[in-house]
Amino acid sequence: MKVVDCPRTRLYAIVAEAFDTIGCQPAMIELGVHKGDNAELLMEALKPRRSVLIDAWSAEALKAYSHFEALPPWLLPLTAFERYFGGSLSDQATFDRTYEIAVQRFAGDERVEIIRDDTVPACARLRDRHGAGSFDFIYVDANHQYEYVLRDLLHYQDLLAEDGVMMLNDCCHSLKGMNQNLGVLEAVGNFLKRAEFTPVALTSTDMGDLVIARQGSAVVRALDAALDGSDLSFVEVMPQMLPAAHIRVSPQGRARVSFA
Ligand SMILES: C[S@@+](CC[C@H](N)C(=O)[O-])C[C@H]1O[C@@H](n2cnc3c(N)ncnc32)[C@H](O)[C@@H]1O
Repeated sequence: MKVVDCPRTRLYAIVAEAFDTIGCQPAMIELGVHKGDNAELLMEALKPRRSVLIDAWSAEALKAYSHFEALPPWLLPLTAFERYFGGSLSDQATFDRTYEIAVQRFAGDERVEIIRDDTVPACARLRDRHGAGSFDFIYVDANHQYEYVLRDLLHYQDLLAEDGVMMLNDCCHSLKGMNQNLGVLEAVGNFLKRAEFTPVALTSTDMGDLVIARQGSAVVRALDAALDGSDLSFVEVMPQMLPAAHIRVSPQGRARVSFA
């Protein structure tokens, strides 16, 4: 696994280069779309033949944020995220507005299908319609809690082609992540013990991104070659180290991945 000093958008270019090498114009999925900012960046980089954007856009979906009656002191209240979402998270109108922004953004693009639903029923619909292994790239960025991320990974692996790539956002252990109840790193650690995937690249940033793909696949070799051939700085570590990754913030405020 390469720990790479770059933002997630540089990894999108690496993934695009790897798909090019293996002769694949990808069909992609984004789980968790919000206003579609990232979907647009992914589509610019990957130039997909098909793009399915899935989000519940529902106040109900965020109710699972904390299972406890009293909010644990290490968690920020949901009101802390109102600026990001553009309004109260208990008001459905907030999500209706962001849904409309996403719909308008991709209107007229025939490659794009928008599914407004929970990720799990959406997965079943896509499997019925397109079949197993019919997608090449899945960006996992919906509910960030442990059980939900693990559930998304376990369901969506069936939709991923042999040479498919999954990418997870906010895959870190950090103070910021803990305050938001992130379970992404822990969930992918569990998933990698159950499934024949390997971590390929992790950004050395807080709230970073992780690229995973099937062990021994051609796309893993193509991703490694694209990283080797790039001007990016990285440190290579054993894949088994992934669950130990955590963010260390220097006194100057610089966040870096540490395994120490
Ligand atoms: C962090 S935002 C996604 C941001 C987007 N990927 C980007 O980078 O611009 C997370 C989104 O996941 C959606 N979401 C949360 N839980 C979900 C679930 N169970 N099913 C579908 N969408 C969900 C929320 O509505 C929210 O819009």
